[in-house]
Amino acid sequence: MILEQLPAQSPDALLALIKLYAADPRSDKIDLGVGVYRTDDGATPVFAAIKGAERRLFEEQDSKSYLGPEGDMGFVHALMPYIFGSDAAMGGRIEGMQAPGGTGAVRLAFAVARKAGITKVHMGTPSWPNHAQILADIPLAGSMFDHAAADGSAAVDVLLHLIANAGFGEAVLLHGCCHNPTGIDYSHDQWDAIAAALSVSKALPIIDLAYQGLGDGMEEDAYGLRRVLAAVPEALIAYSCDKNFGLYRDRVGALYVMAQDSAQLPAILSNLNALARASWSMPPDHGAAAVRYVLRDAALTDQWLAELTSMRARIASVRAHMAAAANQVGALDLAAVGRQKGLFSMLALNKDQIAALREDHAVYMAGSGRINVAGLHSGNIAKFVDALAAVTA
Ligand code: LMR
Repeated sequence: MILEQLPAQSPDALLALIKLYAADPRSDKIDLGVGVYRTDDGATPVFAAIKGAERRLFEEQDSKSYLGPEGDMGFVHALMPYIFGSDAAMGGRIEGMQAPGGTGAVRLAFAVARKAGITKVHMGTPSWPNHAQILADIPLAGSMFDHAAADGSAAVDVLLHLIANAGFGEAVLLHGCCHNPTGIDYSHDQWDAIAAALSVSKALPIIDLAYQGLGDGMEEDAYGLRRVLAAVPEALIAYSCDKNFGLYRDRVGALYVMAQDSAQLPAILSNLNALARASWSMPPDHGAAAVRYVLRDAALTDQWLAELTSMRARIASVRAHMAAAANQVGALDLAAVGRQKGLFSMLALNKDQIAALREDHAVYMAGSGRINVAGLHSGNIAKFVDALAAVTA
């Protein structure tokens, strides 16, 4: 039989962790695995702004007929000022289309890059594990470099060197903010240097912006992306609303393309449409329509931004608590957690320590040592710090 030739694949490690955690009967278990925001009660509620939008959508939506591979263009355009700033279309050089989540947007970016002639994507590691998986599946060669230096800062010199030496047909993948998995972002000075290097490089920038608003703020988290776009002729931008609108399972993302000239956009977009049609035909509508409602209504927009601000404040307070516990767990650089951004940080734990945390302390984290800091709250942070101290003693 032909199908029995398929070798069994191991399940995605991060997603497998969700099931392992769910099956653990211990009541004091701690989930620091997959990247979802949690409140101080450990819940991941639907945003009130999204609930408000959904109520109106339910009343007003009069058809669920097909829209097309580009999805909800009202959604795509409503997001643009938040991502790109006041001249959101860069003089008509930027256009986008909806995609199924940030993952769909990244896949579309890599697929169109390959179609255009990109043969290699430079990528800082560690990265979101799915970046490498999607590259391999396209297939497109990945060329890895170290994202972080030994002192815990972003290793920008390595990146600048490869940007300077990249040939035509090479791309560089950058995390726009809230680096997944390290939480180590480029400083403004480093982004300025990256933009300057890209302005004289042959490399195509591909920017993955999946956590806008979870670092320093919606505007602040767009700094690097806007600096790069102001410096280069063309770029691809993969965007996710899964975290900053809390729409995870609704799969809401977008892929934007900045072309050297607006006249080139229709041909580029026709390729994106063809790739989408052959992959998922059309993206799911509901979540993107809800985001459109939020962004077109001033009261819902304010409510959404206030909810995002409180999420960010809670993440910052958890990070401050972790940094304050640095003395208790001398073997780990917990002070660095206080400086890092977004949902994630990486702790220098080995496989045995990560297994001991799970088995002896009911603490679940990715095998890389990545923690979702939003899984910590006033009721479990002391237990987590004690568990860290125990396994690293
Ligand atoms: C994560 O890294 O945990 C999130 O981006 C969820 C995912 O799809 O992996």
